[in-house]
Amino acid sequence: VSRTDRAAVTAAELAALHRAFELAGRGPAGENPQVGAVLLSPRGEVLAEGWHHGAGTPHAEAAALGAAAAVGRSVANATAVVSLEPCNHTGRTPPCAQALIDAGVRRVVYSVPDPNPIAAGGAQRLRAAGLEVVGGVLEPDGRELLADWLRRVTRPYVIAKIAQSLDSRVAAADGTSRWITGESARVHAHQVRAEVDAIVVGTGTVLADDPSLTARKPDGSLAPHQPERIVVGLRDVPADAAVRGSADGFVHLRTHQPIHVLDALAARGLGRVLIEGGPALVSAFLRAGLVDELHLYLAPMLLGAGTGAVTGLGVATLAQAQRWQFSATQRLGADLLLIAKPNKEMPCSQG
Ligand SMILES: NC(=O)c1ccc[n+]([C@@H]2O[C@H](COP(=O)([O-])OP(=O)(O)OC[C@H]3O[C@@H](n4cnc5c(N)ncnc54)[C@H](OP(=O)(O)O)[C@@H]3O)[C@@H](O)[C@H]2O)c1
Repeated sequence: VSRTDRAAVTAAELAALHRAFELAGRGPAGENPQVGAVLLSPRGEVLAEGWHHGAGTPHAEAAALGAAAAVGRSVANATAVVSLEPCNHTGRTPPCAQALIDAGVRRVVYSVPDPNPIAAGGAQRLRAAGLEVVGGVLEPDGRELLADWLRRVTRPYVIAKIAQSLDSRVAAADGTSRWITGESARVHAHQVRAEVDAIVVGTGTVLADDPSLTARKPDGSLAPHQPERIVVGLRDVPADAAVRGSADGFVHLRTHQPIHVLDALAARGLGRVLIEGGPALVSAFLRAGLVDELHLYLAPMLLGAGTGAVTGLGVATLAQAQRWQFSATQRLGADLLLIAKPNKEMPCSQG
């Protein structure tokens, strides 16, 4: 069965998919996708409906299976019609593909293929279990419904780097910041530079420090792979700024919207990016929830005054704190590297 062959879909299934789109809209928009599901009997009658109510709650398919069970309806040989490809990943809830197989569903019709590499593969699992699967049905409508979420899950992976004193300053009162950390930490930071597709800084850092944003080996020579050099902000980048360099790969993005930065980077085919500051830009990405990994280089130094590492996250009281977890720690000469990740489960698309 072709993924996009609409002729392979019945009128009842098309109607059910429109209904699934409608149901999807009842769920909350946010980190998880809005998904709707309708279960049809082999004769095309609606057996049950479900939608995803938000992170940590049953997925749309599971909700529909639950609704059928609640009224004692058999879903043996039923068709599941879903707005997003059933997931194949065990998150806070078991994979939907398996739940449909276990329930005895015979056929699955869905609109949008799951772009999330962690959750994708549901269609394959269903086919492998002998179910009929038709995907990509009414996909433009399905994508429109999921536009914001699709944008978030297909964005580049974002690492934010902060080199700070023990009292969380990234520059002294007069703006000087070179160097807060020692040689080993800087060598490590250059290794990370050599592994990313782009380094991103704000205009403030360019004007204060005039960095070249190249990846260099400990002997000062250039690493074989050089990331693109991205500057974000409305002010002009001086014609003689080091970041312009002599090679291609310099880009100035005149925006203050982190998601627009990531859209532009995704459009350039960049999958892994390093935000190197300064505090205004890093804070904007943190505020937007668009940082996947924080690299905190902590120097045993106190400044007492100067530029704070992070500002304005909109946290007024402890309960609103952004919670992170350390995923690695490393001693680098006199300094420490702390790697932290947001304290949220990798979404199985729908949590
Ligand atoms: N220790 C470290 O890890 C480290 C790293 C980098 C920088 N620094 C230090 O940080 C200081 C510079 O700090 P900074 O905060 O001015 O640097 P910045 O974050 O590099 O630049 C600030 C500028 O970024 C632009 N921008 C883009 N998106 C923004 C948004 N959503 N919100 C606000 N601004 C946005 C604005 O430029 P426009 O006004 O042009 O629109 C803003 O003025 C320097 O002293 C530098 O040495 C330290």
